[in-house]
Amino acid sequence: MNQSFSPVALYAWQISALALLLSSGQKVVMSKPFRPRRSVLYVPASNPKALAKVASLNADAIIFDLEDAVAPEAKEDAREALRAYFAANPAGKAERIIRINHLTSEWGGEDLLAARACKPNAILLPKVENLQDVTGVAEVLEETDASENVRLWAMIETARGIINADEIAELGLRSTSRLDCFVVGTNDIAKETGTVLEKGRHFFTPWLMQILLCAKAGHLDIIDGVYNDFNDMSGFESECGESFKMGFDGKSLIHPSQIEPANKAFTPVSEAVTDARSIVQAFDLAENAGKGAISLNGRMVERMHLETAQKLLARIETINHSN
Ligand code: COA
Ligand code: MG
Repeated sequence: MNQSFSPVALYAWQISALALLLSSGQKVVMSKPFRPRRSVLYVPASNPKALAKVASLNADAIIFDLEDAVAPEAKEDAREALRAYFAANPAGKAERIIRINHLTSEWGGEDLLAARACKPNAILLPKVENLQDVTGVAEVLEETDASENVRLWAMIETARGIINADEIAELGLRSTSRLDCFVVGTNDIAKETGTVLEKGRHFFTPWLMQILLCAKAGHLDIIDGVYNDFNDMSGFESECGESFKMGFDGKSLIHPSQIEPANKAFTPVSEAVTDARSIVQAFDLAENAGKGAISLNGRMVERMHLETAQKLLARIETINHSN
């Protein structure tokens, strides 16, 4: 049977698929503005010294933590300290994210209400395992008229979460879900699976790449897990370098000393910026107008490379602007 479609039929099919999606109440997200998320520092809300340090730090984003970093007996005080912190400190240039306890825990409900009232850039949900874990919270935010600017981030840190990462990430394509970003929780994955988390992350790599692939398909940003040994700078830099090449948007951090190396590792190097400029300039030449592929310094460059180059230049401009 002849399976080919005419361009008109294909266009009509695309329009009706879009209409179906819209009529199902799901607005389609076209593209999200780029925000640098190279360095994403956890700050325990129970630690006043660490909270006091935040204003002086050059991290792209801060995760104020009510979950793993806070002992059970300190949970209530940490929540109150966070309320006081947000009341006293207006937002600076870093994104502010609050990680709450799981909603099935005794603290989760109160945490969500407190986080919502703080009006952070995002609320980070721990141990997300299916799409309802996200849509349930999005509905609560909607019903309580929380600003659309309060977004959701999801920790992928359980075996079930990794298996379902695809359906969870698809929420990134629906504006009503508020989902913008995955954060990988490597320590929890190691704990549950018994898989050893060692230098080079040999055994973890397939899972990290699987979660990353799902995130990209859902147009989500993805932040890599933490490096526990904060005194081992060369090990940290090497892991950041790999993480950047793998396609992560940034690294989650536990200590201020990790901020600058992460910012550096996730900023495109000057050679890459120069190369991107030369690709854009080459396609701007009148002789290359209308060409799909050209030769540049002995290699083939296609229009897809032009798009990548333009994206890289836009990103570096945003990063330079935010410094
Ligand atoms: N955020 C902000 N400030 C931090 C910080 C963080 N995550 N970690 C350390 N600091 C501050 C310390 O308060 C100290 O401040 P000071 O100069 O005013 O005294 C300074 O940085 C140096 O800290 P240092 O003495 O080297 O470390 P520490 O022993 O105080 O803390 C940890 C070590 C690991 C306990 C701490 O870094 C930490 O709690 N990290 C976050 C843990 C976390 O959030 N885990 C959950 C996610 S995996
Ligand atoms: Mg965890």
